[in-house]
Amino acid sequence: MSVVTTPLCANSVVGRSTAGHSKRVRYYYAEHQAAYERLEREGLTQWNDLFEDDRTDDFDAFPNRSFLEHALPQLPESADVLEYGCGTGAAACFLAARGFRVDAIDLIPEAITLARRFARQRGVTVNFSVQDVCAMPAGSKQYDVIVDSYCLQSIVTDPTAPTSSPPYATA
Ligand SMILES: C[S@@+](CC[C@H](N)C(=O)[O-])C[C@H]1O[C@@H](n2cnc3c(N)ncnc32)[C@H](O)[C@@H]1O
Repeated sequence: MSVVTTPLCANSVVGRSTAGHSKRVRYYYAEHQAAYERLEREGLTQWNDLFEDDRTDDFDAFPNRSFLEHALPQLPESADVLEYGCGTGAAACFLAARGFRVDAIDLIPEAITLARRFARQRGVTVNFSVQDVCAMPAGSKQYDVIVDSYCLQSIVTDPTAPTSSPPYATA
């Protein structure tokens, strides 16, 4: 997949997916899975609540909300949006509630289970799935907008990484 970063914000990418990914990726699957298990255990709603002192415990106060609010007027109406690394789905729910058609993916099944629950509770429709953004097939669905919500930072290429995929199941 190739993406074009906007000058607006380093944590967001806008463009059309075009090609496959060939580099070896070092996954932090166990660490990410443990984070979502803890989140569920402690009744929290999003990733940052695990790591920040000033946690809000408020699903709607997600970290890139102000950026998305700023970017909204620039997005095509009823755009097809992909969010990758969606975690528990706060940004995806925010976009879906504003009329965008949202596919939201995360590598960790526990995150997607929570995301589906939170979307259902809010009555918004998001097409959530467990997927590895690095393994999305070339030529798959095209999007008007692709949103990275702090996932890109955990995609690390490493020629010594194992060649096997992480132990996720598509759901
Ligand atoms: C820092 S967390 C941010 C989660 C969420 N966007 C938020 O702001 O609360 C990064 C997320 O990226 C996901 N992730 C990491 N590598 C991924 C990959 N290759 N494909 C899809 N998701 C991935 C992790 O499981 C994790 O949910």
